[in-house]
Amino acid sequence: MIHFGKILLLLCFIYVANATKYHTYKGFNQNSTFPPEFLFGVGTSALQVEGGWNQGGRGWSLWDYHIFTDPEFIFDGTTHEVAADSYNQYKRDIGLLKELGVNVYRFSISWPRILPLGTPDYVNPEGIAYYNNLIDELLANGLTPMITIYHWDLPLRLAELGGWLNEDIANWLGDFARVVYQNFGDRVKTWLTINEPFVLCSLGYAYGIHPPRVITPGEGFYECGRNVLLAHARLYHIYHDEFKSQGGKVALIFSADMAYGVTDSHDDAEAVEDFLAFTLEQYAHPIFSPQGNYPQRLIDRVGNASSLQGYKQSRLRPFTPEQINYIRGTADFFALNSYSSYYVYRNDSVKELHAVPSFDDDMYVGYYTVPQETTGGSMWVYGYATGLYDLLIYLKKEYNDPVIYFTENGSSDELGFYDEEKVDYYRGYLNALLYAIDEGVDVRMYCAWSLMDTFEWNRGYLVRMGLYELDIDDPNRPVFPRKSALVYKEIIRSRKIDPDYNPEPNDL
Ligand code: NOJ
Repeated sequence: MIHFGKILLLLCFIYVANATKYHTYKGFNQNSTFPPEFLFGVGTSALQVEGGWNQGGRGWSLWDYHIFTDPEFIFDGTTHEVAADSYNQYKRDIGLLKELGVNVYRFSISWPRILPLGTPDYVNPEGIAYYNNLIDELLANGLTPMITIYHWDLPLRLAELGGWLNEDIANWLGDFARVVYQNFGDRVKTWLTINEPFVLCSLGYAYGIHPPRVITPGEGFYECGRNVLLAHARLYHIYHDEFKSQGGKVALIFSADMAYGVTDSHDDAEAVEDFLAFTLEQYAHPIFSPQGNYPQRLIDRVGNASSLQGYKQSRLRPFTPEQINYIRGTADFFALNSYSSYYVYRNDSVKELHAVPSFDDDMYVGYYTVPQETTGGSMWVYGYATGLYDLLIYLKKEYNDPVIYFTENGSSDELGFYDEEKVDYYRGYLNALLYAIDEGVDVRMYCAWSLMDTFEWNRGYLVRMGLYELDIDDPNRPVFPRKSALVYKEIIRSRKIDPDYNPEPNDL
């Protein structure tokens, strides 16, 4: 019989032991300030805030199809049809950005709003006009637009042609990006090509959680990642070959979380390496390492597992030498999204978790989130700010001191003004960031996620990450500042973290 008392004791022991062991988070850094040229921003993405799903000639996205055809798909039964209504209320959004005092607004361009069929045979003038207005209004208010070209809303027609499993996606996305650069590149100078390859490919093509909800964890997952790298490289080259005179920068956004071995064993140390190889370096190594290509560790693990399973070739299809060259070096900075940290381990129990060929089985790592150091009221964000510090130091060493833009970070909380856990989360992460900057990590921007509560994909509005709360029951979609908005505003104004600043609702 399982003895719950003993398990609890063991968990407490693991927690205390590890908290002491990895504790580099040294209290609030009140001696340092964010450098004068350091940028603060806030982010959203098109499908999560725009609404207007059938307004202004927008075509069908893959998400529309899954949401409308499967009433069970979104956990809380909400939809993205109106969302924060940013399609109609972008001027309200700009008012919020001004209120916060941010420098940068990171948003994405809806592919089906610009190209309703996915391909440039027809370019929707109303879609172009919408983003022109948004960009012009931002600039008129002294705000810098930072655009994600692909944030997961694939045109339905291209999904039907195979989406991220079809190598043609590099050409499709390239054609879309060309339209985007042509129309907006005179005013937009920072381009983020594709958001979070690991999340895109694991949720969409391995676990079947995001559309197209395909479950091919041993093959499709890797094919998707391979095509993301080729498509990203194509967007980079199109920009630098055809639009160089616009003078902007291009990068792919990685999602990364730090990993720590549960014990000091050799196996757990290997588990750390493999966790990072599969979740981050699979995508970062081909771009940032001097030799390019996938990390050898990944090639070996998937190759060996494939051959043991009787496959004639590795399920991780190799790049040709031309492709390796084409991808290598295609980033003007390192764009990082990070939210959490994991404890990882390797023992026999891990093998039993995965009966079929899958990337989890190839990786052969068990993992769970590090218990909170700074908290976050989220269902899934376990904020461990030390993890960010360690991750930034790791990236500096691993990728030869890249310029880093921290493009996403945040947490969710309960409804209401007093989102105390989220406030703690932001303070903790920004504090860790300040320590990393003091250590010489070249981080130039921090972008909070998100401006207001967004449609959190398959979780609908169960996860509330906004600095501003969104009233989804009111057709006018009013928004209200939370405490985290005021705290972030004060950090931006003073350029430091004051743990005692304790604003009330009318302090804005
Ligand atoms: C990752 C994604 O980029 C964004 O769309 C999502 O809302 C947040 N992280 C939180 O899950």
